[in-house]
Amino acid sequence: MSDSDTYKKAAAEAALEYVKDDMVVGIGTGSTANHFIDLLAAMKGRIEGAVASSEVSAERLRGHGIPVLDLNAVGPLPLYVDGADEATEHLHLIKGGGGALTREKIVAAASEQFVCIADETKLVGQLGAFPLPVEVIPMARSHVGRQMLKLGGQPELRPGFTTDNGNLILDVFNLEILNPVEMEKQINQIAGVVTVGIFAQRPADVLILGGPKGVRVLS
Ligand code: 5RP
Repeated sequence: MSDSDTYKKAAAEAALEYVKDDMVVGIGTGSTANHFIDLLAAMKGRIEGAVASSEVSAERLRGHGIPVLDLNAVGPLPLYVDGADEATEHLHLIKGGGGALTREKIVAAASEQFVCIADETKLVGQLGAFPLPVEVIPMARSHVGRQMLKLGGQPELRPGFTTDNGNLILDVFNLEILNPVEMEKQINQIAGVVTVGIFAQRPADVLILGGPKGVRVLS
């Protein structure tokens, strides 16, 4: 296992303490979330099930025998655990490197507590070095791209990628995100944008960072 993977796993392990008996747990997507799913499998008898933020996570949960439930059937969730591509000390995030940002944002919004797990290299002073994923309706691809240029970013269509919702991803490079809450609102208002990968209006509640010295918890 690489160092980065070891730190991701340590963060995932620390998140287990937020899981309480009989909970339905919201589960994110990506390599850090995968560690969490694998660790959760050891206590699957104690939880009622999980709501997944992607088909790939749902498949992994089912593979461990963890019941995958429909968000519409279970209502507000007590807990959502997911990774991030970037995080600030204000617990604002960039997500969507795995392309699951829309369902991730829905599950985060529907959860009382959002515990973000990551290796400590994801902690940044300002969001935006990681290209910002924006999920777009296919016919709006060029229009949204032009609007992103006006905001100062360079959009690139993620090649050969279709989201679980049948849409496209624009990865926007070099965007200066000085005010994540405002930038999230502004991009959300562009016609054709399904979801922008800034998670600031609903930030994480807890950020668990794994690193060479162990885990650090920010809240
Ligand atoms: C997927 C995501 C992931 O949380 C993000 O890309 C981090 O991935 P990883 O845990 O593999 O570093 O937002 O859409």
